[in-house]
Amino acid sequence: MLAVVRFEAYKGPMDLRRSSLHSMVLSLALLGACGDAGSSATGGESGSAGGTGGSAATDGAATMGSAGGSGGASGLPCEIDQILETHCRSCHGTTPSSGAPNSLVTRADLLADSLTSPGRTVAEVAADRIVGMGGAIMPPPPAEPLTQAEIDTFQAWVADGAPAGTCEPNPEPDPFDVDPMCSSGQTWQGGKFSESPNMNPGMECIHCHTKPSDFGGFEGGPSFVVAGTVYPTGHEPDLCNGVDGGVDHVAVVLTDANGVEFSIPVNGVGNFFATYADLPSGFTDPIHAKVVSDKGERVMVAALTSGDCNSCHTQDGANGAPGRIVAP
Ligand code: HEC
Ligand code: HEC
Ligand code: HEC
Repeated sequence: MLAVVRFEAYKGPMDLRRSSLHSMVLSLALLGACGDAGSSATGGESGSAGGTGGSAATDGAATMGSAGGSGGASGLPCEIDQILETHCRSCHGTTPSSGAPNSLVTRADLLADSLTSPGRTVAEVAADRIVGMGGAIMPPPPAEPLTQAEIDTFQAWVADGAPAGTCEPNPEPDPFDVDPMCSSGQTWQGGKFSESPNMNPGMECIHCHTKPSDFGGFEGGPSFVVAGTVYPTGHEPDLCNGVDGGVDHVAVVLTDANGVEFSIPVNGVGNFFATYADLPSGFTDPIHAKVVSDKGERVMVAALTSGDCNSCHTQDGANGAPGRIVAP
């Protein structure tokens, strides 16, 4: 990849203004490379898989299928178990209450014959009752009905033959499975072009530093090779301050082809940045990134094709990224 071949050309100390010209060329090349990120991400090397993605764990659980469920497990896929737990078990618990005729706790409960519609399973009847077909809607009013997403999930599972699954006892919460929010409650107020290491959290640092005219400005900032923002959750808006990196010693760690590590501290608003001159000399592609803290690490599987981290790690996630860079 082009990126670090160019990094190597800049070993020595240098004039930031001059190098920003070069990095403009670099960043254009990298923008071109961005389109490949999705495919290289899915083809990521098996050895370094982070395993920190909560959603991946949930999907895996749904298809793992431990039939029987020896240790008191419900035998249900996690998302089905959660729907029943949230909306049904206040009445259809282990001991049914409020007039509910049966339990909806285990997969066996759902595969049992329906009491109200002989010849069908409870699961099949439940798939109708959650949309008000074949009897009163479940859960009965005034309880909120299921969301459309929950209805789709439940009905798809029943249509699929109600396959077995597992639900981890305490699945790690998925930071990307949350509504957009500004966790810090604090927003950068300094204006787009003020000069501060706390500036413009969440925005594309390098793009603006090399082409400020795209953002309505004239003068570029320092020439960074890597820069971005780390957040507490997966979908935080631009200009919202990120994590206070000092609290859990949050850092972004890059590892090059030879296993050389380079750690970049994350500042009080979640921002991190490094210039070519900061990198160890001879730092070589492919380069991998992860976020570390006292609490653990979150690893990007694919090799970097750009150091402008926020260009992909936007609020919603671009080029296949799941959203923001999230602290462990
Ligand atoms: C507030 C209590 C309550 C809640 C919560 C509740 N139910 Fe019910 N459910 C009942 C009662 C009472 C009946 C029996 C009367 C009837 O069939 O309408 C019933 C009956 C059923 C039946 C028919 C049973 C059979 O064997 O045919 C199904 C299926 C069912 N509920 C599914 C659900 C599902 C799925 C949920 C959650 C999405 C749910 N219920 C939530 C009270 C509840
Ligand atoms: C809208 C354009 C823009 C964006 C987006 C932007 N910057 Fe800047 N930045 C600038 C400009 C312009 C300067 C230089 C001001 C000057 O030299 O007078 C600057 C200067 C800096 C400086 C030097 C501050 C100092 O005290 O000398 C740092 C550090 C910095 N930016 C970090 C970042 C980081 C990290 C991000 C991304 C989270 C970012 N910037 C996003 C335009 C931007
Ligand atoms: C070209 C787009 C792109 C850029 C630039 C990029 N990433 Fe990523 N990142 C992704 C994609 C796609 C994934 C999900 C697949 C994977 O892990 O490879 C990801 C995943 C991650 C994850 C793991 C996600 C999780 O579960 O928390 C971290 C951490 C991460 N990136 C950090 C970074 C850092 C730090 C930078 C900048 C040095 C960066 N990324 C630059 C696309 C990008």
